[in-house]
Amino acid sequence: MKIIMLGAPGAGKGTQAKQIAEQYNIPHISTGDIFRANIKNGTELGKKAKEYMDQGLLVPDELVVDLVVDRIEKDDCQKGFILDGFPRTIPQAEALDAALAAKDMKIDYALDIEVPDENIIDRMSGRRSCRECGAIFHAKYNPPKSEGICDICSGELILRDDDKEETVKKRLDVYHEQTAPLISHYKSAGSLHEIDGTRHIDVVFDEIKSILEA
Ligand code: AP5
Ligand code: MG
Repeated sequence: MKIIMLGAPGAGKGTQAKQIAEQYNIPHISTGDIFRANIKNGTELGKKAKEYMDQGLLVPDELVVDLVVDRIEKDDCQKGFILDGFPRTIPQAEALDAALAAKDMKIDYALDIEVPDENIIDRMSGRRSCRECGAIFHAKYNPPKSEGICDICSGELILRDDDKEETVKKRLDVYHEQTAPLISHYKSAGSLHEIDGTRHIDVVFDEIKSILEA
């Protein structure tokens, strides 16, 4: 089961991808999480990525593609994986298609979580992410049991650096310009599924399960 998640910033890609990974026992590969871990550890990649992320811009393709292609060649990805935040540009999608085609494989499901821009700012300002394990909460829509503390690992919950309103607006512009064209790319490939992401988290997940189990 090879899955990619499409959708605007804050559409719920990470929230759903974590549940899908658990339900179907496949690795969840989030390029945003990989970059944030590199920033936290002060690596060269982290330093380069941060310059772009803080401005709401995409990290250049050449810093992302090899990283993902190498990751999906690992043993734990052989029976499937879920990519969250990759691909994000047509060249990234083409590189992914080519890497899979070389092994006679392809993306089985492109799940596009649709949420209008006007709902996104509200979602981002309330998002809290665990500094330690990356679990995602929302002050209003998915609150942790104790404020500021992760339910899973008791880590500290923080607001992401790129969730300031001006940066979110920039990320939305970048999404419409560079990432939304992937919807027609995967529609032509026959793997696109469009999902209304404005509903409750559990309702969205039920629909995803019905698609993956059809
Ligand atoms: P990344 O980390 O991928 O950020 P993003 O795409 O902007 O998406 P988010 O993680 O912000 O949102 P999400 O869709 O995962 O929503 P979530 O589940 O958290 O990328 C960050 C940056 O890294 C990029 O800007 C770029 O610079 C760089 N980057 C990463 N990948 C790259 C690539 N391939 N190429 C180039 N650059 C790259 O949910 C949001 C909130 O809403 C949460 O609080 C959640 O609890 C809540 N929520 C979720 N679902 C619902 C629901 N159904 N109802 C109500 N609330 C909900
Ligand atoms: Mg995410």
